[in-house]
Amino acid sequence: MPVPLISAQSLEKTYVSGGQRITALGSLSFTLSKGESLSLVGRSGSGKSTLLNILCGLQSVDRGELQVLGHRFPGSQSEDTESLWARLRRQRLGVVFQDANLMPALTLLESIQLRCHLAGTPSDQAPGWLEKLGIGELGNRYPDQVSGGQRQRAAIAMVFAMNPEVILADEPTGSLDKHTADAVADLLLGMQKERGCALVLATHDLALAERCDQLIDLGSAG
Ligand SMILES: Nc1ncnc2c1ncn2[C@@H]1O[C@H](COP(=O)(O)OP(=O)(O)O)[C@@H](O)[C@H]1O
Ligand SMILES: [Mg+2]
Repeated sequence: MPVPLISAQSLEKTYVSGGQRITALGSLSFTLSKGESLSLVGRSGSGKSTLLNILCGLQSVDRGELQVLGHRFPGSQSEDTESLWARLRRQRLGVVFQDANLMPALTLLESIQLRCHLAGTPSDQAPGWLEKLGIGELGNRYPDQVSGGQRQRAAIAMVFAMNPEVILADEPTGSLDKHTADAVADLLLGMQKERGCALVLATHDLALAERCDQLIDLGSAG
């Protein structure tokens, strides 16, 4: 059996805030294989963002075992853990947030070129990625000169341009109206299948979540 890209065993995360303990993740286990998609649903506060942050190394777990792209966390790797996560995020793990994915001082095209440069993928393909996402004519605009839907298309172009093995997307259509959200979601899932990369997608949209290969309801997990 192939080794999964992500394997999570009994992950637990508790925050302490104002003297209160808040369990963000109870005891969560799952695996994600190459090319597979997994959706995370659950009410606001059910731990979706916490889990995505853990999967890309922006937060750590209290208990449990996590393997991502062949690395075990917590682990005994020789490379410093922070630098290892930073390298994975630069080259192999693409992250898309609800908004604020783009650098305000760079045009959409420059953002994608920078992403390619960091990931070591060909930056001359950057205009092609904008075309694929339907915003080929907007490359010279800055993020504040385009709509929210266009910004999310650029964010998705940027993440695919790095040719990642796994994409982690935290409510990438959450700030968009229904029509635009559906169009952006179609592009994200369509490109994911076409490129064969794995996807973990947090969303409030149950219809979108059900299009993924696996669904975890964090509202009822743990
Ligand atoms: N940095 C933090 N400090 C304290 N509590 C937090 C922190 N981040 C998240 N939480 C709490 O953890 C729970 C899960 O939050 P989150 O992962 O953001 O959920 P979701 O993305 O599903 O809305 C919530 O109760 C939230 O208030
Ligand atoms: Mg969230």
